[in-house]
Amino acid sequence: MAKLFLDSANIAEIEYWNNLKLISGVTTNPALLSSYKNCDPIDLVKKISKIIYPNPVSVQLTAKSKNQQVSQAKYFNKINKNIVIKVPAFEKYLDLMKDLNKLKIKTNITLCFDPITALLFAKSGATYVSMIIGRIDDFNLSDNNLVFRTKKILENSGVTTKIIAASFRYPNQLEKAIISGADIVTVPPKTLRMSLENHLSLGGLNDFNNKWNEIPKKLRDKYESII
Ligand code: E4P
Repeated sequence: MAKLFLDSANIAEIEYWNNLKLISGVTTNPALLSSYKNCDPIDLVKKISKIIYPNPVSVQLTAKSKNQQVSQAKYFNKINKNIVIKVPAFEKYLDLMKDLNKLKIKTNITLCFDPITALLFAKSGATYVSMIIGRIDDFNLSDNNLVFRTKKILENSGVTTKIIAASFRYPNQLEKAIISGADIVTVPPKTLRMSLENHLSLGGLNDFNNKWNEIPKKLRDKYESII
């Protein structure tokens, strides 16, 4: 069963969707953490990890050198055990994976656009690989069933790494990713709301209400005040 994560660093949104018990994790990235301009991103990470605990929250490394990256990962890991370290899918980070594995720090490999990239990091011990669907669609390119192909390749390779499908602009992208076998979909609140604010649903409700208002008010009130 595919799990739903929220792709957001907005505290109010995280609290809202978490209270509805609809999400089982949160993903952030430097761009999302920068949306509160004057807020210390470390404080934000602390708040999010507390709200969502024990479910995971992904936090991306930004340090430049490997030593600094290890220190950054250790620091986040000490803040809260549910913090997963997001690592960009570049060759230079393969070596870092060994250090993070030794420290038993969970990782989410971000910016994966190719099943073999995902496989290399999966074999390097990644907990999650994030397949970035929306950024492919943004350029009107086909993802050629990226999630499905990655799923098959990881299954055939005997790794336990979970696939997170990410970067969703529209609900139909989400639907395809779930059908294609994503273990998790991480979704911005805006995309979730699109599926709840469908114009056909709104039009239908207006039709029902217009008809309903043709009934005398007294009878409508009686119907609506049943205890
Ligand atoms: C997922 O974890 C990332 O935060 C997400 O892919 C960001 O995608 P976007 O910047 O394309 O929306």
